[in-house]
Amino acid sequence: MKELTLAISKGRILEEALQLLSKIGVECEESPFNSRKLIFETNLPYLKIIVVRASDVPVYIESGKVDMGIVGKDTLLETESNNHLRILDLKIAICKLIVAGKSNSKFFNNMKVATKYPAITKRFFHDKGLQCSVLKLYGSIELAAVLDMTDVIVDLVETGQTLKQNGLKELALIDKISSMLIVNKSSYKLYRDEINTFLTLLNK
Ligand code: PRP
Repeated sequence: MKELTLAISKGRILEEALQLLSKIGVECEESPFNSRKLIFETNLPYLKIIVVRASDVPVYIESGKVDMGIVGKDTLLETESNNHLRILDLKIAICKLIVAGKSNSKFFNNMKVATKYPAITKRFFHDKGLQCSVLKLYGSIELAAVLDMTDVIVDLVETGQTLKQNGLKELALIDKISSMLIVNKSSYKLYRDEINTFLTLLNK
């Protein structure tokens, strides 16, 4: 049987993805959270796992070196990468991509927006007929609105606690987000049976 490699996004997605895999009887040889290894064997002889940064998942899949990936829809929307098959919505790591700000914030032309998602942000405001200038940050995005570095932020919200505890509110929903299973196109042609065996487990 062909050996398949699955790339999983680091962070919250990894936690929920490993729980999902565990539910279907797939366990890593050791926990990626306590190891510096880059490639993990699993108890399925045909499945290996690699753990990479979210935005790198589509890059690995599209290189052809990795067959499958678990990645958030936010990453796929931002990178606009589509040279892969989106096989299954795994319905894990569910959250929302939103515009947030102080409660009196309004949208206006040339507003400043802090985000990890410049492409999504520009598209969202462009579709509303507005230009915006994007400040790219890599974490704790909410601070930009709290400190008035920017007029609003575009970020993920899960429980809403971060917004609430920092006096911000949701101003607009951009998209509902969850994690998808994506597959390299050639892998799916060549190893359809093997990939479908794995998908059958996931769909049970
Ligand atoms: C994410 C996101 C928000 C927070 C939302 O950040 O960017 O800041 O979680 O979650 P909540 O609605 O449940 O409060 P993360 O914790 O991944 O860290 P980061 O700020 O470094 O990106």
